[in-house]
Amino acid sequence: MLTYIVLLGPPGAGKGTQSKVLASELDVPHISSGDIFRDNIKNGTPLGKLAEAYISKGELVPDDLTIAMLRERFLQPDCKNGAILDGFPRTPVQADELEVLLNSFGGHVNLVLFITSPVNILIERLAGRWTCRAQGHIYHECFNPPKERGICDIDGSALFQRDDDKAETVLNRIEIYQTQTAPLIQYYDERGVLVRIDGDTSIKKVTEQLMSGLKC
Ligand code: AP5
Ligand code: MG
Repeated sequence: MLTYIVLLGPPGAGKGTQSKVLASELDVPHISSGDIFRDNIKNGTPLGKLAEAYISKGELVPDDLTIAMLRERFLQPDCKNGAILDGFPRTPVQADELEVLLNSFGGHVNLVLFITSPVNILIERLAGRWTCRAQGHIYHECFNPPKERGICDIDGSALFQRDDDKAETVLNRIEIYQTQTAPLIQYYDERGVLVRIDGDTSIKKVTEQLMSGLKC
């Protein structure tokens, strides 16, 4: 069966952290639009140069650029049996396009796991997040610290803090989420695929709720 699962939630909700667990559990790729944009920025591609102007301010990259990028990702054969989608879709236009894209190879969005937490918790998480350069493994200086400061436990690469995790950019990202992405809660609720997850608890307990959500 084709399994396409969307992780929906505000910045810092834990989408990236939990997507990695689910992708490994279900043996499907983890597709993070934010990670693909950051790779393009790192590699200085034309898309990266365009996207950086939006990401640095905490704004959404325009739908046409984002959809074209995801379409290209879905051409790769590893997505044909399913995927965990993290950070995409983020607008109703992207959600409509995703459905068209998945329908074209016989799939659809099976489940949307909506994780949320209070704003003060989101801010605290993003302020202390460290990410690994090589493969994007995610840490937090208090809630999920690496064994050795600044070094990824899994692949030994250096950890860095994201430019868009600066306090003023975080507040803008949260506001943009509330105005442009939160309408997807109703969008997917009406389609009967939304499951609400309490993200204001430990990483392990969120994972347990997600695993139960998979059975819905
Ligand atoms: P993106 O990279 O998708 O960022 P985001 O949605 O803002 O979400 P984050 O990655 O900040 O948070 P997360 O939910 O993944 O949390 P994480 O697991 O890391 O997008 C970045 C930018 O790219 C956007 O602003 C936009 O400009 C652009 N973009 C991307 N997709 C786009 C699209 N579709 N359309 C247009 N533009 C797009 O966890 C956060 C921290 O909390 C970590 O330190 C973690 O260790 C910790 N943590 C996680 N869970 C818990 C827990 N339960 N308890 C304690 N700590 C926890
Ligand atoms: Mg993320």
